[in-house]
Amino acid sequence: MAKIVSLLQQKGGVGKTTISVHLATQIKETFPDLKVAVADADPQQSATVWITKGNGKAGVHVFPVAQDGEGKNLKSELSEVEADLVIMDLPPAIASVSMRAALYSDLMLVPVGASALDIEAAKTAISVCKEAIELDATKQFLLVPNRVQLNSAAGRELRSVLTKFGPVSEATLCLRVAYADSVMHGIGINKFAPSSPAYQEIGMLAEEVVRMLKLKGGRSS
Ligand SMILES: Nc1ncnc2c1ncn2[C@@H]1O[C@H](COP(=O)(O)OP(=O)(O)OP(=O)(O)O)[C@@H](O)[C@H]1O
Ligand SMILES: [Mg+2]
Repeated sequence: MAKIVSLLQQKGGVGKTTISVHLATQIKETFPDLKVAVADADPQQSATVWITKGNGKAGVHVFPVAQDGEGKNLKSELSEVEADLVIMDLPPAIASVSMRAALYSDLMLVPVGASALDIEAAKTAISVCKEAIELDATKQFLLVPNRVQLNSAAGRELRSVLTKFGPVSEATLCLRVAYADSVMHGIGINKFAPSSPAYQEIGMLAEEVVRMLKLKGGRSS
């Protein structure tokens, strides 16, 4: 069965879809032998719109899951996917679909912005991740600082604040227009802005995810 990575956060607009698509396309580029897919569990279908807009240029497939809004069939939907790695984009709610996603994920990523409200809002998702890990200690989670402005005190301090709540990704994703502009072209940063700072950031996150999941050259060990 594919390794499952889910993007969880009840707060809207924190970067779940952005990270899902850029991470999937970046991992596919760095590890071309890996079969990478995006599972879109959000009724807004943002990841689907983004990837289909590119007519295959993104290099990863996207497929809908949890169309019932609750994810009652999520386990079987995921088990049927022919992929080594599935990145699952979730809606902005810790509803049953997100709880189920946590149960079936190997790695949960929680994007968090630098404001106090963002950090407060992440606490529910962090609790869900910790509960899932209590049930199955092989699961992992990471807080992913996103939309960070390093020229602000809050941005510079975010990493040290977040370490009080859980493990923080090595990569800090800054506020960069390339992350948003690539959507219009239906591609990820790897094709939209290769060698840009955004590419370096997503590349670092991609390598960390692949390492955590022990995925190497197309196979999980
Ligand atoms: N690091 C970033 N730099 C610049 N813009 C970003 C960054 N991350 C996300 N954005 C932008 O912020 C907005 C919200 O991001 P996104 O849609 O990924 O959030 P989301 O958590 O999936 O939202 P929702 O909960 O509504 O699904 C988008 O316009 C996106 O382009
Ligand atoms: Mg989204």
